[in-house]
Amino acid sequence: MTQAPEFQVDPASYWSKEWAEQEWTHLWSKAWHMGPRVEEVAENGDVYVHSLGRESLLFVRTDGGEAKGFFNVCRHRASRLLLNADGPTFVNQFHCPFHGWCYNLNGELTHVPYRERFDENVLSEPGRADLKTFRVESFAGWLWYTLDDEAPSLMEYLGPIGPKLDAYKMERATIIDYKTFEFGCNWKTTFDAFNESYHFQTLHSEILAWGNEDAPITLLNIHSYMVNEYGRPSKLYPEQVKLNPSLENLLSANGIDPATFTGKATDVRAAVQQAKRAKQGKSVFPYENLTDSQLSDAYHYQLFPSTHFNLFPEFYVALRYRPHPSGDPEKMYFDFIMCATLEEGETVPPYEHRVVRGGEEPVEDILKWGVRKHPVVNEVLGQDVDLVEFVQNGQRSQSFEGAILSVDERRIAHFHHNIAELISGRSIRDLLASNPVEPDAHSGH
Ligand code: FES
Ligand SMILES: [Fe+2]
Repeated sequence: MTQAPEFQVDPASYWSKEWAEQEWTHLWSKAWHMGPRVEEVAENGDVYVHSLGRESLLFVRTDGGEAKGFFNVCRHRASRLLLNADGPTFVNQFHCPFHGWCYNLNGELTHVPYRERFDENVLSEPGRADLKTFRVESFAGWLWYTLDDEAPSLMEYLGPIGPKLDAYKMERATIIDYKTFEFGCNWKTTFDAFNESYHFQTLHSEILAWGNEDAPITLLNIHSYMVNEYGRPSKLYPEQVKLNPSLENLLSANGIDPATFTGKATDVRAAVQQAKRAKQGKSVFPYENLTDSQLSDAYHYQLFPSTHFNLFPEFYVALRYRPHPSGDPEKMYFDFIMCATLEEGETVPPYEHRVVRGGEEPVEDILKWGVRKHPVVNEVLGQDVDLVEFVQNGQRSQSFEGAILSVDERRIAHFHHNIAELISGRSIRDLLASNPVEPDAHSGH
């Protein structure tokens, strides 16, 4: 694929309230999204409050052990039941703070003060006064949800990306850190910034010492992935032979002494792969399921429309994008969630989830990643975080006629095209039936 994409992204999609309203109707309320980790709703009565735009959603472990989703809305006069901010909590029942209606963990209405003053036919009509549910399924250690009762199953929705993620055994991982950034930009502005590597050579030029920026891209139906090879200098990096400090760190981290390493800079990646392959079967990490490339490289998956996973065998970063509760299309929540598989005896300090106003605190002060601190990731993320609102401001200008995209940005075209198709009235099922599943663009080595 050498052809630059032809699809034109509508600039209004980044700021128009009408567009955001259409997105809510045709995209957010129809697609599957990533909710909390399974272990955050492990025991009966565990509840996780999660907001998505205008909705506050409750993920609950019921008495029967099932994970269920309830809208955080009382059936009487719509008060929120739990007033908690996003995060975990525990309840025996749901008790509405306004007039005292109660619901059990299965969402059934169990108590109404002065019940005799209501029409009993209405209160006892099946489904009329019980909590409204939404669909929840579990995959890769996460609870996924859709607000559409007619949506395809999660596995149908994920299609070929499901088995690819399975190989990483993501359910073994645990959250090491989770922070939510509030940005003054459209959610897609941030999504786009994490959906291409073309910006590495300018915004993250330090990566070129140890990784590539021309990541091969594979479209997997409505989803996609790109592969960032790590452990070799980019072709744009002037020194291809002598080791640089980043490559030396990478060798050391994999038990190889850089002082005695006789290979070139371009040989580090293969050495890292061999070192991990040698530990296969003796480690908690799923090396045996992974190709050589997956041992060293970042596999960056886009799950349409609101999640990225940047996967390494030992840890991964989940990026989640959410429209802002205010409904303002020029605000968003960006969840940065670091997960790692812990080795025996390894512990991590508990993380504190909070909402951080984007750009107000240095990222390295915000994220405490304990055992899985990755070289340059703090700096790199800070560079992205500091720029997104400036991109938003430019996109809002009357002078902006729409992006001119390279082949390295074709995931952006693919992503926006599918959103535009939904808004034009096509269904998720239509998209699943018509999007391409490309052969892997990366050889696996
Ligand atoms: S709004 Fe919940 S009891 Fe009235
Ligand atoms: Fe970036």
